[in-house]
Amino acid sequence: MANSAQIVAIFAGALILFALGDTAVATDPEFFVQGQVFCEVCRTNFINRLSEPMEGATVRLECRGDNVGNITFGIEGVTDAGGNYKLKATGDHEDEDCQVTLVKSSRLDCQETPSEGWAMQPSSKITITKNNGFHDDIRHANPLGFTKKERDPACQELFKELQINPDSLA
Ligand SMILES: *[C@@H]1O[C@H](CO)[C@@H](O)[C@H](O)[C@H]1NC(C)=O
Repeated sequence: MANSAQIVAIFAGALILFALGDTAVATDPEFFVQGQVFCEVCRTNFINRLSEPMEGATVRLECRGDNVGNITFGIEGVTDAGGNYKLKATGDHEDEDCQVTLVKSSRLDCQETPSEGWAMQPSSKITITKNNGFHDDIRHANPLGFTKKERDPACQELFKELQINPDSLA
């Protein structure tokens, strides 16, 4: 049976571990990367009034060092009903390339990933460091979107309105 000296020793050990854990949290900066995912129904390279926020889409935030394959951080998240995601990044990633990419669509009718334009993969680059003049811990990613195989018929109206020629879009 443990005597009281052993119990005190265990308790002191637990306190030290707790204190160390606390220090690590305090020195590791935290950032929240926010963005929105759409189904772009017109296959344009910009968000428009017909683009639909996509709930349940999976995105991935990843940071890399200079060398190919040197992945220093990675986390995945899923969008809410408004197509918004919020990914928590820990640590400072000043000299790294960080970006958010589309991983998985939640819609069978909208799961193509465009090869150019605003929704391009690899996609939205993020700067994750305290040393760049941004003082809050929110980083905003550019919107990302999956597209449909065929344009919605309503897109013809939109193209007329915006005076763009759909043939000029990829
Ligand atoms: C990976 O990248 C980080 C950040 O740039 C760097 O500190 C680390 O030395 C790199 N590791 C390798 C194995 O290249």
